[in-house]
Amino acid sequence: MRTIRQLTEADWEAFITISVNAYPGIKVVTAVDRQRFRQRNEQMIADPIVSLWGAFENGRLLGAMRLFDFAMTLHETSVLMGGIGSVAVDLAYKKRKVAYDMIQFFLRHYREKGAALTALYPFRPDFYRQMGFGYGTKMNQYRVEPASLPRSSTTHIAFLTEKDKEAVMACYGRYAQQTHGMMTLPTYTWDQLFTEPSLKIVGYKSGGEIRGYLIFAFQQGQGGHFLSNEILVRAIVYENPAVLAELLGFLHTQADQIERIVINTQDEDFHFLLADPRFEGELMLPRVLYHQSNTQGVGLMYRVIDVPRLFEQLADHDFGGQTCRLKLTVRDSFLPENAGSWIVGFENGRARLLSDPTHDIAIELDVAAFSSLIMGTVSFRQLVFYSLAIVSDPAQIETVNRLFHTAQKPICMTSF
Ligand SMILES: CC(C)(COP(=O)(O)OP(=O)(O)OC[C@H]1O[C@@H](n2cnc3c(N)ncnc32)[C@H](O)[C@@H]1OP(=O)(O)O)[C@@H](O)C(=O)NCCC(=O)NCCS
Repeated sequence: MRTIRQLTEADWEAFITISVNAYPGIKVVTAVDRQRFRQRNEQMIADPIVSLWGAFENGRLLGAMRLFDFAMTLHETSVLMGGIGSVAVDLAYKKRKVAYDMIQFFLRHYREKGAALTALYPFRPDFYRQMGFGYGTKMNQYRVEPASLPRSSTTHIAFLTEKDKEAVMACYGRYAQQTHGMMTLPTYTWDQLFTEPSLKIVGYKSGGEIRGYLIFAFQQGQGGHFLSNEILVRAIVYENPAVLAELLGFLHTQADQIERIVINTQDEDFHFLLADPRFEGELMLPRVLYHQSNTQGVGLMYRVIDVPRLFEQLADHDFGGQTCRLKLTVRDSFLPENAGSWIVGFENGRARLLSDPTHDIAIELDVAAFSSLIMGTVSFRQLVFYSLAIVSDPAQIETVNRLFHTAQKPICMTSF
């Protein structure tokens, strides 16, 4: 019999062995490494939003996972978002549906807790898409020369220290509250910010408050010698245009010392900021007159686990100001209790579920596509063109498109 439960003190040794074998890249080899890994995990689960779980058969640990009770800004509402990370299966028990059972447990665990959504960073997007997770916003990586960033005064910019922690957290909180997709940062992430020696943090100070900040680290440049240096921007948070201008101005002024600034951003318009948007190496895309501007990746994925609850949570959301009655059919073979058809009545953009089956439009799609649609990372129009959604009347595509259109794709700065 397979059971899934929270790990206890007695399970730690087996948990460490499974984890280090699943992720050899974390380089936990010696007894000292194992002790450090253990301490790190103890530090993580000291935060009440984090917990460690395992799949057991006849008392033996076969796989483990870390669960996170995040708060996420879903459009304008703060909701519980179940996160999962560090999924690991004993090398000797692979392909026996241990991960399958753990993901099923994870989804049902958060349904019971009252969440409508879950999220994860996939080791392979196709593995989790099969389980109903939909793509989130892509990540763009730029490698820009500092002088390509806009010049600005930097009068409000200062290095921040532990003393500024509360003010930085307050700034993050305000930004997160106003930004679709932003999630809680676990306490160990905040603790690490001011204790990890390689991390530098500068902020925009005004009237005793911090209105934005930039976390960065130095890394060796392509020249490979000690004068060849780059800045890797780990996070950039800003509450208004003046703050962003000064933070970028700070990076601009590093031109004499820094060859490239590496910026990972989910902002799809970032190239508008640059004097020269061309990527390092001035590559042209083969056969077209387009200059490479950045590289891109697919990462964070979202999954709806409770459709009716999702619409309850979005009771105050404006679905494009539309008025119509939509029959929504969501297919979900992995979590059948989440599959079904609902009549959603929209009145001037406000949605509620109706019991009367009459409707104007019917749409049908898989839970992975629906999850991306509700998060605003793909348009309904494109889902129809890609044959990932069906609509009863093609003349109504634009109405449905307006229902789910969001001005800003979700942004997430939480790693887990
Ligand atoms: C990746 C890893 C967790 C997979 O573990 P695993 O226990 O071998 O995986 P499973 O046997 O549960 O495979 C998933 C199964 O779910 C099935 N499945 C997925 N979606 C399904 C669906 N909608 N309906 C039915 N079955 C589904 C898959 O087909 C697969 O079964 P199959 O192998 O019989 O085809 C494991 O190999 C590992 O620990 N890797 C190293 C660490 C790592 O990369 N972790 C992931 C971090 S996100």
